Amino acid sequence: MKALVTGGAGFIGSNIVAQLLADGHQVVVLDNLMSGYRGNLAAYPEARFIVGDVRDPAQVGNAIAGCEVVFHQAASVGNKRSIDHPLVDAEINVLGTLTVLEAARAAGVRKIVAASSAGIFGELVTMPIREDHPVEPDTPYGCTKLAEEKLCLAYAKLHGLEAVCLRYFNVYGPHQRFDAYGNVIPIFVFQALRGQPLVIYGDGEQTRDFINVKDVVQANLKAAAAVGVSGAFNLGSAGRITINRLAELIRETGVPCTWSHGPARRGDVRHSLADISAARRAFGFEPAVGMQEGLAEYVAWARREVADPCTD
Ligand SMILES: NC(=O)c1ccc[n+]([C@@H]2O[C@H](COP(=O)([O-])OP(=O)(O)OC[C@H]3O[C@@H](n4cnc5c(N)ncnc54)[C@H](O)[C@@H]3O)[C@@H](O)[C@H]2O)c1
Repeated sequence: MKALVTGGAGFIGSNIVAQLLADGHQVVVLDNLMSGYRGNLAAYPEARFIVGDVRDPAQVGNAIAGCEVVFHQAASVGNKRSIDHPLVDAEINVLGTLTVLEAARAAGVRKIVAASSAGIFGELVTMPIREDHPVEPDTPYGCTKLAEEKLCLAYAKLHGLEAVCLRYFNVYGPHQRFDAYGNVIPIFVFQALRGQPLVIYGDGEQTRDFINVKDVVQANLKAAAAVGVSGAFNLGSAGRITINRLAELIRETGVPCTWSHGPARRGDVRHSLADISAARRAFGFEPAVGMQEGLAEYVAWARREVADPCTD
């Protein structure tokens, strides 16, 4: 099949590209490099890379021509970025998604698999979090990812395009770099590798459901292959750990690290844990990578990245 990966130069997108190519598919990437890197695709010259913006109908139309499936990963990512730049967040996540959906409809795409986020839920009411958990996002990002999801599902109802929205919990793995908007695992691992002390926000007893990017890729590919399946699905590992335990696990991979506690962060939820039974039933999703194994692989990748940083 031929597939378009929007945001394919990013962390998750580039891992999807790698697996699609390994499975023998043809791949087009559309990415404006806002937070992605050419270097993430350096090993995959077979992918056609278009530097372009999901908000631009002509660029999206060009990229999508002949594609059967779209993996829509492009986004303004993260709570903090959305608090700092709410208009950009809305333009990319809402109007960009709508532009991709319009192009998908016009091009006769069979399926869109879109990246949603656990950020749509806001503070936890019941645990584990099922798909019907109340959605009360705490940040502009949570609101725009919810809008993105609803738009995809409305297009599925209106236009016969199949749409699966995967509500990623905390994803980690190779190609996830440290930046001001980064998630806790890259921040901690890169700081530890640079010999800097870690700062844990609040008491560190807040929990997260960390899912390895290999499992996220598996879910994307299974969702794409599942004929007749549309809907929104929670995507985590179905396990959770505290941030204090995460720091210990990083130390157990062999990276010396120390940490202290700082003030709690605005917009952060206290606990998070996905119920993944709906994704299991609908398309056979089964997380396979344990936290220790996944962290060891990530630390090995991050060591190479710290020694020879990707700048492009
Ligand atoms: N990493 C996580 O834990 C996590 C959790 C929940 C949801 N998500 C979602 O997963 C998807 C991928 O996120 P990621 O973690 O790989 O982040 P990322 O920042 O590495 O990837 C996003 C990619 O989208 C590209 N992009 C941004 N704006 C664009 C635009 N206007 N046009 C074209 N490309 C654009 C960026 O350059 C980047 O390559 C996003 O939709 C994000 O909201 C990620």
